[in-house]
Parts: sequence; C-alpha cells; structure tokens
Amino acid sequence: MVSRIEIVRADITTLAVGAIVNAANSSLLGGGGVDGAIHRSAGPELLAECRTFGGCPTGEARLTAGYNLPAEHVIHTVGPVWQGGGHNEDGLLASCYTNALAVAAENAIRTVAFPSISTGVYGFPKDRAAGIAVAQVWKAQQAENQFERLIFCCFDAEGAELHHIHLAALQA
Ligand code: APR
Repeated sequence: MVSRIEIVRADITTLAVGAIVNAANSSLLGGGGVDGAIHRSAGPELLAECRTFGGCPTGEARLTAGYNLPAEHVIHTVGPVWQGGGHNEDGLLASCYTNALAVAAENAIRTVAFPSISTGVYGFPKDRAAGIAVAQVWKAQQAENQFERLIFCCFDAEGAELHHIHLAALQA
C-alpha cells in the first residue's frame, strides 16, 4: 500500500477517516479550539471515555472511539505550550506526531488526520510547527507503508500553505 500525505483545509470533525487527532490538554477533559469542537461533535460519551485515562503527559497519545464523529477513533495527544523554544518544545511536538502514529499503527488504523497541534492556544510558531509535523509524518510514511492516507487538516489557508511548503521541500 503506497501511503499518501495530503493537506486539506477543513473542520477536522467532518472527516470520515480511521482516526482524527485531537490537540488536547493533559487533563484530557476537553477545552476550547479543536479539542472543544471534537468533544461537541463526538458527544458526552467521549468525555466519559477520556476520564478513564486519568490524564495524559505532554507528547504522549491515547486512543478512544469516535462516538458521534464520522471518524472511527480519536487519538488524543497533548502538545507543548510554546515557551520560547528552550524547553524541548520541538522534541515534545515531534513526539505528539510519532506517538499518535504509533497508536494508529498498533490499532491497524490506516487513515489519520492531524490538526496543527500546539499552534493555537499553545502558541507554537506555525511555520516551525509545520516543519516538525511534516518531517515526522514523512519519516513515518517512509518507514511503514501501512498507512493509506496521512492528512494535515488545516483550519486556515496560512496553515495549509506552510504545510505545502515543507512537504514540497521533502518531495524535491
Ligand atoms: N478543525 C481543524 N483544526 C482546528 C479546528 C477544527 N475544528 N479548530 C481549531 N483548529 C486549529 C487551530 O486553528 C490551530 O491551528 O487547531 C490548531 C490547534 O489549536 P488549538 O485547538 O488551540 O490547540 P493547541 O494550540 O494545541 O492548544 C491546546 O487548547 O483547546 C485547548 O484543551 C485544549 O488546553 C488545550 C489547548
């Protein structure tokens, strides 16, 4: 199976894929941004399942069902809060992508959509985050061809453009 990396502009809660990735916080009890949108769309059973984890450390990922979402699953990951770049933010953000993909692979989930983790409330510079995200997903698709579609679901044109630039640089 040849995997394909795609960049789309959409509301991630509308994507009918194996898993959408949630940019959660360490409590896993919901919040604003994409976290809020996913919980609103999935319904209260998602929060009930999230409660069973007792939280999630930054950089790690946890799998739940998708409930009322068109996606079968949600992979919740906790991005780093941007603090200027001297607190291993790059490494922790990279871990979000690699750990989310590892959870997908362990559960035979072949189509995964990512929001731009940490680039909203958590303030991670968008271009720097896009470079990290594309590099990690590119590496994963090189290593394993079990993924059919790996999608960067960008909420705005700027984000989509940044991902296109970084992806083109790798495909050159
Ligand atoms: N679909 C796709 N992307 C979205 C959506 C959506 N429905 N809503 C927001 N986004 C984008 C934002 O534009 C941003 O680019 O997701 C990216 C991540 O932004 P946030 O949701 O603010 O997430 P993050 O920066 O990782 O901060 C996480 O915010 O919502 C709280 O509980 C969450 O405390 C946690 C923190």
